This record gives sequence, C-alpha cells and structure tokens, in this order.
Amino acid sequence: MLSSKPAQRQPVGVSGFPIIGSMPEFARDPIKFITRLQNEYGDVAAFSLMGKQSVLISNPQDIERVLLETGKHYGKFHPTYAMRTILGNGLVTSEGDFWKRQRKLAAPAFHHQSIKRYADQMVTYAQDMAQTWQSGAVRDIHQDMMTLTQRIIMKVLFDVDVLDNAAEASKAFDDMMQALGADMGGIEAILPGFVPTPVRTRMVEGVKYIDGLLLEIIEKRRAEGSEKHDLLTMLMEARDDEGQPMRTEQLLDEIRTLYLAGHETTATTLSWTWFLLSRNPEVYARLESEIEQVLDGRAPTAEDVQQLPYCNAVIKESLRCYPVAWITQRIALEDVEIGGYQVAKDTMIFLSPWIVHHDARWYTEPDAFIPERWLKDKAEQPARETYIPFGGGPHICLGNGLAMMEGVLLLATLLQHDHVSILPEYPVEIGLAGTLRPKSGLQATFIGRDR
Ligand code: HEM
Repeated sequence: MLSSKPAQRQPVGVSGFPIIGSMPEFARDPIKFITRLQNEYGDVAAFSLMGKQSVLISNPQDIERVLLETGKHYGKFHPTYAMRTILGNGLVTSEGDFWKRQRKLAAPAFHHQSIKRYADQMVTYAQDMAQTWQSGAVRDIHQDMMTLTQRIIMKVLFDVDVLDNAAEASKAFDDMMQALGADMGGIEAILPGFVPTPVRTRMVEGVKYIDGLLLEIIEKRRAEGSEKHDLLTMLMEARDDEGQPMRTEQLLDEIRTLYLAGHETTATTLSWTWFLLSRNPEVYARLESEIEQVLDGRAPTAEDVQQLPYCNAVIKESLRCYPVAWITQRIALEDVEIGGYQVAKDTMIFLSPWIVHHDARWYTEPDAFIPERWLKDKAEQPARETYIPFGGGPHICLGNGLAMMEGVLLLATLLQHDHVSILPEYPVEIGLAGTLRPKSGLQATFIGRDR
C-alpha cells in the first residue's frame, strides 16, 4: 500500500447490474452519470463497468498525483477495441520505455520555436476559409472548423495539402470517432472485438482509407527524399539503438495518432468558443475590440499571440467550460491510497476535467463563461491543478502549445473577416463521440466586415 498513513476506508458508490455494472447509465448520459457519482459519493466514488472495478476521482490534488505517478504506480489504461484498431501502438496508447523513446523523438517538433513556423500557414488557411463565407448565409461552423484544422494538421505534420480528399478524410475520421464513442457507450461496449457491428465495419474502412492516404505520402517521401523538417521526416529519419528505422506499421500508428489527436480537439474547442461568444455579447465585444486595437486590420503573426491576452483567456475559458477531452483513464498497477481511500490493484481510475472545471469549490460561477478569471493576478487565479484540459504529468498533451497558438490565431483571423453568431434558436446539445462536441453541428450566420 502506497501511503505514509494507512488508508482504512473503501470507496463507496453504485453497484449497478451484475456483469455490466453501471454501463447502461453511463452509456445513456456519461456526464450526468459522473456528475451524480461525485455529488452523491464524493471525491473517490466507486462503480463498475463491464466487470471492471472502477473509481471516479474528483479532487484536483489526487488527480495531479495520479497523473504524475503514471508509469510508476499507475498505468495508462486498457485500450478498447476501437482504440487498438485506430491508434495502434502510437503515442496515445503506448507505455513504458517504448512510449518514452517515441515521445522523445516527436517532442522537438512541438517545441515553442518549432511550432512558431506554422503560424503564417494557419493564418493563410483561415483567410482562405473566411473567403468562402458570405454575409447573411447560414452554415455549419463546426464543419468549417473541422475542415480548417484538418488542413492545418496535414500541413504541419506532413507538409501536404489534403484539400482534394477533405470530404472523404472527414468521413473516415468521423467513422473512427463514432467507434471510439461506441466502445464507451454503445452496444460495442459489451461485445467482444471480433463481432463486426456496422459501427466497427465503418471504422475499419475509415482506418484503411486514412492509411491509404498516409502510405502514399510516406512512399512519395521515401522515393523523393526530403529536406523538410516536419514531423514525418523526423520520425522517418529516427533510428533505434541498433540503427534500424521505424517499421512502416509503427510509423503509420504514430502518424494516424497525431492526425487524430491533433485536429478534432482544436476544431471542437473553436466551435464551443463561437457558441460561448454568441451567448455572451459583452465578452464578444471585448474580444473584437482587443483584436482591432492590437492588430489594426493586419494579419496576426506568431509574435502577436502573446499580445492578445483576452483572446488567450477566451480560448482558455472555453476549454474550461467545454474540455473536449472530457475524461481520462488510468489503471492502478498495485494497491494504492487515493484521498484516504484504499484502491485495489487493477482498479480503473477515471478522472474528468468536466467535473473538476465545473466544481464550485474551485471556480466561482462555474457554469458561467468568464475569461476575466484568467486575467487576474496569478495568486487570485484558479489554482493550477484545477485546470486540466490537457491532462498532466508525463503524458500531458504533446500538442498543447500548438493547440493554444492555433486557437488564438484562427479566432483572431476569422474575427477580422466576419462577426460569427450561432443562431439564437439553434438547439445546442453535447454529443460524446470520443470527444465532447456539439451533437448536431452549430448553425451560424455571418456578417462580413468591410469587404
Ligand atoms: C484543444 C486541443 C487539445 C486537447 C484538449 C487535448 C487534450 C489532451 C489530453 C487531455 C491528453 C492526455 C490524455 C491522457 O493523459 O491520457 C492529450 C494527450 C495527447 N495529445 Fe492532445 N489535446 C489537444 C490537441 C492536440 C494536438 C494539436 C496534438 C498534436 C498535433 C495532440 C497530441 C497529443 C498526444 C500525442 C498525446 C499523448 C501524449 C502522451 O501520452 O505522451 N493533442 N491531449
């Protein structure tokens, strides 16, 4: 037992049905379920899912410790069938020394100086997108954000432009995300991996389609050689201790993982930001005024990102209100003590940024969109460990700097072109297909500025 003081208590919670445990309630509305668990059973609440003993932990200090000790007393998780198929043994799913080596290989591409190079390209693509918007038109801005961030991630990671295949790639991507969601809350959650449900069949087709695109890029790069400094080149040039390059399958797993982790998350964050701005006109006006004052009509650059504090605070607050990676899992590798409770080896540990970010103990008016809370003196801001949209510890999101820079640059560029409003009567609902996203997109109207 890992503790200086002995933990006597066992976590209490819901027992659910035999075998499947709380899966039906979890599947019906996972956020409602975990909110109820925390409200009724506190910061270490027990439940079971498909025969697996689980706890939801909700105290930020416990969460920080579990994240920091991942790789030591906690493992990442048992990937579901869809995760194994889609992410293979890439950075999100791998563990131990292998993960450490792969993370070390990929990390330089995400350093501050490296990501700054992508700023101008992001702005250009955002301008291209804004050119397609027409004043008075109504369109799905979530779809637009997906198209835009997909174009950016392909350029950033592989220096290619997939615009020709954008619709097919989006469909393949969507099929994969649906399968990830279904493994947590669909019939797939209780079926073994070899049962080919329609969701799984579409996912496998989607993986094949994306791999086809990626293989083409890899083969072309191998045939032509390259002076490029993108992530693909770095991974292709990497050698292991025996001087061997990465096998093609491993390269595909890493690239597919980065492609998946790197665009829907950012797109969805922007979509929620449009929604929150539309429902909070005072925040919206203050943001527009900052952009006007700082940029005075010129396109933003990487250097401007730090000069737009309100814009940064808006994205930060949006990620607090709608943390797109809304739940994370770990597994206890041995008997441990969490928050004074005994947690047995092999217990699944769930932690949710959604729960922490909406907890009135850490945030005043937790359900309100208040970017100003991030502009106060550091001592008065919410405590660091209560803000976890990018996770924490050794597995903290590799792309967090890229995502924040991208969010600020795209928001500022698009807002220079148009005032975007989500239709006031549009029914916005949360959908949980792997990430926390607007269930039926977001219909928006546009008012162009002086064009
Ligand atoms: C708003 C955007 C994003 C959010 C909210 C987000 C969130 C997260 C979270 C919560 C984790 C930790 C998961 C865990 O601890 O199990 C994570 C990991 C990861 N993210 Fe992100 N992410 C975002 C954007 C990106 C981007 C742009 C990239 C890359 C292009 C990226 C690549 C990764 C990778 C590779 C990992 C695995 C890290 C590891 O285990 O070493 N993410 N992300």
